[in-house]
Amino acid sequence: MATDESAVARSELRWTAVILATATVVFVAILYATLALHDQPPGHRETIDPTTMHIGGEFVEDNLGTSVGRDGGVTTRIVAAQFAFVPQCAVVPQGKPVTFRLASPDVIHGILVVGTNVNTMVVPGYVSEVQTVFAESGDYLMPCHEFCGLGHGEMIAYIRVVPSSQFNPDKNGKVGCGLR
Ligand code: CUA
Repeated sequence: MATDESAVARSELRWTAVILATATVVFVAILYATLALHDQPPGHRETIDPTTMHIGGEFVEDNLGTSVGRDGGVTTRIVAAQFAFVPQCAVVPQGKPVTFRLASPDVIHGILVVGTNVNTMVVPGYVSEVQTVFAESGDYLMPCHEFCGLGHGEMIAYIRVVPSSQFNPDKNGKVGCGLR
Protein backbone atom coordinates (compact mmCIF):
# COMPACT_ATOMS: atom_id res chain seq x y z
CA MET A 1 0.00 0.00 0.00
CA ALA A 2 1.41 3.40 -1.03
CA THR A 3 1.83 6.02 1.66
CA ASP A 4 -1.15 8.32 1.67
CA GLU A 5 0.31 11.84 1.58
CA SER A 6 -2.80 13.44 2.99
CA ALA A 7 -2.86 10.96 5.91
CA VAL A 8 0.72 11.99 6.74
CA ALA A 9 -0.21 15.66 6.56
CA ARG A 10 -3.22 15.10 8.83
CA SER A 11 -1.04 13.24 11.34
CA GLU A 12 1.49 16.06 11.35
CA LEU A 13 -1.26 18.62 11.87
CA ARG A 14 -2.61 16.59 14.80
CA TRP A 15 0.83 16.55 16.42
CA THR A 16 1.18 20.28 15.76
CA ALA A 17 -2.10 20.82 17.60
CA VAL A 18 -0.94 18.66 20.54
CA ILE A 19 2.34 20.57 20.81
CA LEU A 20 0.64 23.97 20.53
CA ALA A 21 -1.87 22.94 23.21
CA THR A 22 0.95 21.74 25.51
CA ALA A 23 2.93 24.96 25.00
CA THR A 24 -0.21 27.01 25.71
CA VAL A 25 -0.87 25.12 28.96
CA VAL A 26 2.73 25.67 30.12
CA PHE A 27 2.62 29.34 29.14
CA VAL A 28 -0.67 29.91 30.99
CA ALA A 29 0.75 28.07 34.04
CA ILE A 30 3.80 30.39 34.04
CA LEU A 31 1.57 33.46 33.72
CA TYR A 32 -0.65 32.21 36.56
CA ALA A 33 2.36 31.50 38.81
CA THR A 34 3.82 34.94 38.05
CA LEU A 35 0.71 37.11 38.27
CA ALA A 36 -1.56 35.26 40.69
CA LEU A 37 0.88 33.42 42.97
CA HIS A 38 3.69 36.03 42.75
CA ASP A 39 6.08 33.18 42.15
CA GLN A 40 8.87 34.73 40.19
CA PRO A 41 12.63 34.57 39.95
CA PRO A 42 14.35 37.34 41.91
CA GLY A 43 14.65 40.48 39.83
CA HIS A 44 16.78 42.39 42.28
CA ARG A 45 20.35 43.29 41.39
CA GLU A 46 22.43 45.42 43.70
CA THR A 47 26.15 45.22 44.30
CA ILE A 48 28.21 45.67 47.47
CA ASP A 49 31.93 45.40 48.20
CA PRO A 50 32.33 42.25 50.34
CA THR A 51 35.78 43.36 51.55
CA THR A 52 34.55 46.61 53.12
CA MET A 53 30.91 45.88 54.01
CA HIS A 54 31.82 45.33 57.70
CA ILE A 55 33.56 48.72 57.95
CA GLY A 56 30.89 51.06 56.70
CA GLY A 57 27.47 51.26 55.17
CA GLU A 58 24.27 49.36 55.57
CA PHE A 59 25.71 46.04 56.78
CA VAL A 60 27.85 47.27 59.70
CA GLU A 61 27.13 45.27 62.83
CA ASP A 62 24.97 47.77 64.71
CA ASN A 63 22.72 48.23 61.67
CA LEU A 64 21.87 44.54 61.44
CA GLY A 65 18.60 42.96 62.50
CA THR A 66 15.15 44.45 62.12
CA SER A 67 14.48 48.16 61.90
CA VAL A 68 11.46 50.24 61.04
CA GLY A 69 12.03 53.09 58.62
CA ARG A 70 10.44 56.55 58.79
CA ASP A 71 7.89 55.39 56.22
CA GLY A 72 6.93 52.50 58.54
CA GLY A 73 8.55 49.90 56.28
CA VAL A 74 10.06 46.91 58.09
CA THR A 75 13.51 45.83 56.94
CA THR A 76 15.57 42.97 58.32
CA ARG A 77 19.27 43.01 57.49
CA ILE A 78 21.30 39.85 57.96
CA VAL A 79 24.90 38.99 57.20
CA ALA A 80 25.51 35.39 56.17
CA ALA A 81 29.11 34.44 56.90
CA GLN A 82 31.10 31.26 57.49
CA PHE A 83 29.53 29.83 59.66
CA ALA A 84 26.82 31.92 61.26
CA PHE A 85 24.13 34.43 60.54
CA VAL A 86 24.36 37.83 62.19
CA PRO A 87 22.03 38.27 63.95
CA GLN A 88 21.11 34.71 64.81
CA CYS A 89 17.49 35.71 65.45
CA ALA A 90 15.39 38.52 64.01
CA VAL A 91 11.93 39.74 65.02
CA VAL A 92 9.36 40.71 62.42
CA PRO A 93 5.68 41.64 62.68
CA GLN A 94 2.88 39.31 61.63
CA GLY A 95 0.68 40.35 58.72
CA LYS A 96 2.89 43.19 57.46
CA PRO A 97 5.28 43.32 54.49
CA VAL A 98 8.85 42.57 55.58
CA THR A 99 11.89 43.18 53.41
CA PHE A 100 14.90 40.94 54.00
CA ARG A 101 18.25 42.25 52.85
CA LEU A 102 21.23 39.92 53.03
CA ALA A 103 24.89 40.05 52.13
CA SER A 104 27.90 37.76 52.44
CA PRO A 105 31.50 38.80 53.10
CA ASP A 106 33.02 35.44 52.15
CA VAL A 107 31.43 32.67 50.07
CA ILE A 108 28.05 31.85 48.57
CA HIS A 109 25.40 31.05 51.18
CA GLY A 110 21.69 30.53 50.76
CA ILE A 111 18.70 31.07 52.98
CA LEU A 112 15.18 29.84 53.16
CA VAL A 113 12.59 30.54 55.80
CA VAL A 114 10.86 27.24 56.36
CA GLY A 115 7.21 27.24 55.31
CA THR A 116 7.35 30.56 53.45
CA ASN A 117 8.27 31.82 49.98
CA VAL A 118 11.52 33.30 51.29
CA ASN A 119 14.33 31.52 49.51
CA THR A 120 17.39 33.14 48.01
CA MET A 121 21.08 32.69 47.51
CA VAL A 122 23.44 35.15 49.16
CA VAL A 123 26.33 35.79 46.80
CA PRO A 124 29.36 37.85 47.85
CA GLY A 125 29.35 41.11 45.93
CA TYR A 126 25.57 41.34 45.78
CA VAL A 127 22.74 42.32 48.11
CA SER A 128 19.94 39.76 48.13
CA GLU A 129 16.52 41.24 48.73
CA VAL A 130 13.32 39.28 49.38
CA GLN A 131 9.92 40.49 50.51
CA THR A 132 7.21 38.53 52.24
CA VAL A 133 4.25 38.75 54.61
CA PHE A 134 4.07 36.29 57.50
CA ALA A 135 0.47 35.18 58.02
CA GLU A 136 1.17 33.25 61.23
CA SER A 137 3.19 34.19 64.29
CA GLY A 138 5.82 31.85 65.68
CA ASP A 139 9.47 30.95 65.31
CA TYR A 140 10.56 30.07 61.79
CA LEU A 141 13.80 28.25 61.12
CA MET A 142 16.11 29.89 58.63
CA PRO A 143 18.88 27.44 57.67
CA CYS A 144 21.66 28.01 55.18
CA HIS A 145 20.83 25.87 52.17
CA GLU A 146 23.95 26.35 50.08
CA PHE A 147 26.97 24.24 51.02
CA CYS A 148 29.48 26.81 52.20
CA GLY A 149 32.15 24.77 53.97
CA LEU A 150 32.68 22.49 56.94
CA GLY A 151 30.39 24.46 59.26
CA HIS A 152 27.51 24.66 56.77
CA GLY A 153 25.29 22.42 58.89
CA GLU A 154 25.63 24.78 61.87
CA MET A 155 24.34 27.82 60.00
CA ILE A 156 20.82 28.25 61.32
CA ALA A 157 18.97 31.39 62.30
CA TYR A 158 15.45 32.10 63.55
CA ILE A 159 12.86 34.52 62.33
CA ARG A 160 10.53 35.30 65.21
CA VAL A 161 7.15 36.48 63.93
CA VAL A 162 5.15 38.32 66.60
CA PRO A 163 1.66 39.88 66.52
CA SER A 164 1.98 43.55 65.57
CA SER A 165 0.81 44.54 69.11
CA GLN A 166 4.04 42.93 70.42
CA PHE A 167 6.26 44.46 67.76
CA ASN A 168 7.71 47.48 69.52
CA PRO A 169 10.58 49.38 67.89
CA ASP A 170 12.84 51.41 70.19
CA LYS A 171 13.47 55.12 69.61
CA ASN A 172 15.94 54.28 66.83
CA GLY A 173 13.42 52.08 65.07
CA LYS A 174 15.29 48.91 66.03
CA VAL A 175 13.61 45.73 67.22
CA GLY A 176 15.69 43.06 68.93
CA CYS A 177 14.99 39.39 69.34
CA GLY A 178 15.97 38.48 72.87
CA LEU A 179 17.80 35.26 72.14
CA ARG A 180 16.24 32.11 73.50
CU1 CUA B 1 26.29 29.09 54.78
CU2 CUA B 1 25.88 26.88 54.10
